[in-house]
Amino acid sequence: MDAISVIRAKRDRGELTDPQIDWVIDAYTRGEVADEQMSALAMAILLNGMTPREISRWTDAMIRSGERMDFTALGVPTADKHSTGGVGDKITLPLAPLVAACGAAVPQLSGRGLGHTGGTLDKLESIPGWRALLSNEEMLDVLRGCGAVICAAGDGLAPADKKLYALRDVTGTVEAIPLIASSIMSKKIAEGTGALVLDVKVGSGAFMKNLDDARELARTMVGLGRSAGVATVALLTDMSTPLGLTAGNALEVRESVEVLAGGGPADVVELTLALAREMLTAAGVRGKDPADALRDGSAMDHWRRMITAQGGDPDAPLPVARERHVVPAPATGVLTALDAYAVGVTAWRLGAGRARKEDPVQAGAGVELHAKPGDHVTAGQPLLTLHTDTPERLPYALEALTGAVTVAPAGTAFTPAPIVLDR
Ligand code: URA
Repeated sequence: MDAISVIRAKRDRGELTDPQIDWVIDAYTRGEVADEQMSALAMAILLNGMTPREISRWTDAMIRSGERMDFTALGVPTADKHSTGGVGDKITLPLAPLVAACGAAVPQLSGRGLGHTGGTLDKLESIPGWRALLSNEEMLDVLRGCGAVICAAGDGLAPADKKLYALRDVTGTVEAIPLIASSIMSKKIAEGTGALVLDVKVGSGAFMKNLDDARELARTMVGLGRSAGVATVALLTDMSTPLGLTAGNALEVRESVEVLAGGGPADVVELTLALAREMLTAAGVRGKDPADALRDGSAMDHWRRMITAQGGDPDAPLPVARERHVVPAPATGVLTALDAYAVGVTAWRLGAGRARKEDPVQAGAGVELHAKPGDHVTAGQPLLTLHTDTPERLPYALEALTGAVTVAPAGTAFTPAPIVLDR
């Protein structure tokens, strides 16, 4: 077998055979297939697609490139959630302890932010002392003791995907449904969760800009999960505007704690509860209403225990950025658009995100929203507050907001998109 014949087969719109797929994934993981060869193959897949059989075999080969975890010894149902990534998407933070408080164990392997979307681990690392890197034994101990753990995936889990995702990120080959579906599902199946709820984001701040593409991605991932024996469901959710009122690491932790304390923005609460209900149903846990666990403080108890078990101090003040800059509303009327992608890029340029995976992030940087689409605003009132430790980046960050805000004349009828668009 050789890389060039595999690349040519896909370039010429052929269907790759099982042995070709097994070989190319294994040889790439071992370093025998070069990065430039794999990027040519990834581009051929992006342009020419894959059949369901090819996607399934590709996913399986990536799972087999590393170890598989197994939580059956815990004796409790396990449930995980994966979001395809958005702006202000802090849902994992309140969701994991909430579902744990309702009786399912949540082994949540999460990632860091790259580009305009934030990463769960970067957010949690703004809590003084909190550690993302755990050994498999430490991860199991936290899960056993707290019911939930949020940590980085170990190097042994789907190593083929680690290499391939980093390569796709710098070769314009991220946005291919077969590659996104196999990347996400190889990690989730190898992680060993019994139930999985996928939050497939749709809109300007998401990979999938329209409902048809999001539906195809969701169906592909649900099919892969179910054929691997994982109870998998997907919600399609709106990402045309940021979730909640914050985008940025410590800012989003603060908002998540507000949700766990029974408050927080309505859209964050609604999506957290919708995903929690799906996770509990998929895991077979009956008779628990997650809204009760937010009201009675048990979700907050699980959060505090989980943060403490990973070295964090849940009572420590969160970092704040050195400088703030207020962006006023440009006109009086109804706010009809506050673009998620533009806010994500602004937060990123302020220092909340990274351009290369080795870049540091600023814990306090980000964007605070003072209004959401559907709200009445008055010209000159604060619309956004930008937070940064590097004020010299402000002009560059502000440039990203060009055209992001639309205010219609007062009295214009406008109904914001629902959070959950489809299931
Ligand atoms: N997240 C992943 O893990 N992989 C992708 O390809 C895209 C988003």
